[in-house]
Amino acid sequence: MPVHVLDHPLMHDALVTLRDLTTPPSEFRRSAHRISLMLAAEALRDVRSTPVTVQTVLAPAPGRKIASDIVVVPILRAGLSMLDSVLELVPTARVGVIGLQRNEQTAEASEYYCKLPPHMEDSEVLLVDPMLATGGSAVAAIELIKATGARRIRMICIVSAPPGVEVLQQAHPDVDLYTPVIDRELNAQKYIVPGLGDFGDRLYGTV
Ligand code: PRP
Ligand code: URA
Repeated sequence: MPVHVLDHPLMHDALVTLRDLTTPPSEFRRSAHRISLMLAAEALRDVRSTPVTVQTVLAPAPGRKIASDIVVVPILRAGLSMLDSVLELVPTARVGVIGLQRNEQTAEASEYYCKLPPHMEDSEVLLVDPMLATGGSAVAAIELIKATGARRIRMICIVSAPPGVEVLQQAHPDVDLYTPVIDRELNAQKYIVPGLGDFGDRLYGTV
């Protein structure tokens, strides 16, 4: 699995705000939006486009339009923070939603919701989830996506940890991962260290 560790000063600026424990939910949401825009733009850099010509007020102008069917799939609930960023960049994208919840004791992900669009065999699927810790949620989500027949899948993630990257690599070597950082480790509760805490709780103020 190609792992793309993206290095951009604007991404790091947003990331440091997300990590800061004094950042309130309103600012946390804005920073998640900012960094997700950049991650999505990078992850979709090689998406298929087709030449078009439009008429400006002065003359015909050549350009390109996206030619792929793009499906964005957030993992509930933290992945919702990244959905609007992708839709802003690709307004025509279709949306699938997967609900997974980590058990607080075992950190194992269990599914509670899954609704994916039909006919994803030739789609470019962008899985969005801000945290890749043990990798259990990502692996389970990709299995659900692949069960539809989808073959072209990539994932964007705001903070990754070495165990999650390795588990994902083993289970789905055909999925590209785009992340600005791979943090040091997981703690005993399977939280990413240094990480940023529980993303969903910080996003929605449910701490
Ligand atoms: C978080 C996060 C990922 C998952 C990552 O979700 O959004 O989905 O943990 O951890 P993993 O790699 O060990 O599976 P969580 O289960 O806390 O649910 P939430 O988004 O509803 O808070
Ligand atoms: N999920 C989170 O929200 N944070 C972590 O550090 C790990 C999983």
